Amino acid sequence: MKLKFPEGFLWGAATSANQIEGNNTNSDWWKWENSPKRALQLRRKGKNPDDYKSGIACDSYNRYEEDFDIAKQLNHNAHRFTIEWARIQPSQAEFDQKEIEHYRQVLQALRSRGIKTFVTLHHFSSPLWFYKIGGWEKSANVDLFVKYVERLFEELHELIDYVCVINEPNLYAIQGYFTLRWPPQKFAPWKIPEILRNFGLAQKKVYQLAKSKGYKFPVGTADSVSKVEAAWMLFWLPPIVRRYLYLWLIELQAPYADFIGIQYYSRKLIDIKPRLPKTDMRWEIYPKGLHDVLLEMKKFNKPVIITENGIADAKDTKREKFIVDHLKWAHKAIEQGVDLRGYFYWSLIDNMELADGFEKRFGLVEIDYRHNLERKVRRSAHKYAEICKTNELDT
Ligand code: BGC
Repeated sequence: MKLKFPEGFLWGAATSANQIEGNNTNSDWWKWENSPKRALQLRRKGKNPDDYKSGIACDSYNRYEEDFDIAKQLNHNAHRFTIEWARIQPSQAEFDQKEIEHYRQVLQALRSRGIKTFVTLHHFSSPLWFYKIGGWEKSANVDLFVKYVERLFEELHELIDYVCVINEPNLYAIQGYFTLRWPPQKFAPWKIPEILRNFGLAQKKVYQLAKSKGYKFPVGTADSVSKVEAAWMLFWLPPIVRRYLYLWLIELQAPYADFIGIQYYSRKLIDIKPRLPKTDMRWEIYPKGLHDVLLEMKKFNKPVIITENGIADAKDTKREKFIVDHLKWAHKAIEQGVDLRGYFYWSLIDNMELADGFEKRFGLVEIDYRHNLERKVRRSAHKYAEICKTNELDT
């Protein structure tokens, strides 16, 4: 059976600057990765801190044309990536024109290949100076981000097709202030609501800015969502957990979003369920969950885009099925009235998996870290390429 996707569907892959470009030296992540505190923490776990530093990562800052050639060859018609704030505004007083020109070339490189530009404005990392003055903890700081975005849009708006403002505000806040896996590693869960409100404010202000200037590109979100399930005795729990994890945030953002971007990887289990296959991250593979969260988005009455969905699978034995199964369920959601407009696989290339270093392999394309960061297209990428080309899934 052939499952047809809506005309003009966006097909592509996502990346983030801090995870692939390398040498993001003016960012808070760089500072954290290279801090004695982080080194000590890793050594205590018997790990070598050098394996957890982004360094030159995939060197995509210099090799982006090669990456985009591959995306083109794989029939992607859109590409999601970050313009790194810490590069363009390395200090509060300075906008670096050279870096603006760099990203102009990046955008042009996509356009010249017929690939739509899907820009993320903030993907976990911030400039160090911004972090030092309180970062996202302070509502007064939101305007500093918006001022930067204003400048960025003035320079580059003609080359931008879509914008998502903040990548996964919920995970940023939870991992940085509760589970302490990411910077700033400050145990302060009581700050989370305020941080989320500030990200919500950034969404609102960037949206209003884009509209007031008459820019044509849609402005949306990119939120982490999960399927939340519990045993029958705890049937009242999932709605509360969902609300805390993401629904409250999306309610805040939705009035200021032309589309809702969702990022789905797995489900959260609150009880003991039969074991399902797992990814290399030990996350359960649960494709139906994508369908369920997509249906949940119906109440916002906005177009939806899957801004991330992917699997860590170094051997590439599960990726093809993972993509196909998730797309089948996504298609079912379309049949049930979800206005789904696109799908971005995470990620185009292997990259620095945040606190987990380089070992986990999410890429459609392998990076050979031992041999000059050579790019090698994985087998599963070809299956996805076929779907992108035909705009349909042959089941
Ligand atoms: C993030 C990515 C990350 C991926 C896999 C998403 O939550 O946006 O930056 O690499 O998940 O963990």
